[in-house]
Amino acid sequence: MQKIGFIFDLDGVIVDTAKYHYLAWKKLANELGFEFTKEQNEMFKGVSRKRCLEILLEIGNVTASQEQFDAWMVDKNVDYLAYIENMDESEVLPDVPRVLNFLKDNHIPIALGSASKNARPILEKVKLLPFFDSIVDGNNVTKAKPDPEVFLIAAENLGVPSNKCVVFEDAVAGIQAANAAHMISIGIGDQKVLSESKYNFNDFTEIDTDFLSKLLRS
Ligand code: BG6
Ligand code: MG
Repeated sequence: MQKIGFIFDLDGVIVDTAKYHYLAWKKLANELGFEFTKEQNEMFKGVSRKRCLEILLEIGNVTASQEQFDAWMVDKNVDYLAYIENMDESEVLPDVPRVLNFLKDNHIPIALGSASKNARPILEKVKLLPFFDSIVDGNNVTKAKPDPEVFLIAAENLGVPSNKCVVFEDAVAGIQAANAAHMISIGIGDQKVLSESKYNFNDFTEIDTDFLSKLLRS
């Protein structure tokens, strides 16, 4: 049987950090004198920090020098780090540990494929770091999702061909990246939003052992 690998996105798949990203972006927007809504925050899912700030400034119709732009990127991250400082295991999304344990019990290689530059400390805080054979995050890529780079590096690190990798993603850009890498894309969240995914579940509680076993045999 050919080897199969599993790649997990972080934000919105393993932990619900979108709320903390939102609070940090909203704080910056408010300081710059405009509002930033939860609906607008949806556009930021799976999107790099730099691109998020570009979009935020477009929303507020704000222009900035490169120096100012870089300073706001730092400010946002300092605020974000303060929000996530006290995160612990209780913030892991339901049944994620069950699925990770199932894969480990079956000796399946597991990677993280995230746009975040804060991925490693978050996995440490929620005590899931030991599950991952490879961590590919915003520090390791030059091209953001929907480019497949992050997942292709993860597959290579796991030693698994791309078309034998399964990707869990909550963002449209992430599903597109997985599809572009010819991987099996599994959308976690609203099916209407993630319509390009091969399979879709609202969350991991809907992913049963039969489904996972079928993937392992595929
Ligand atoms: C993604 C999030 O996982 O990481 C985005 O969905 C975020 O909202 C991006 O902008 C970058 O994260 P960070 O932690 O490097 O600012
Ligand atoms: Mg995500």
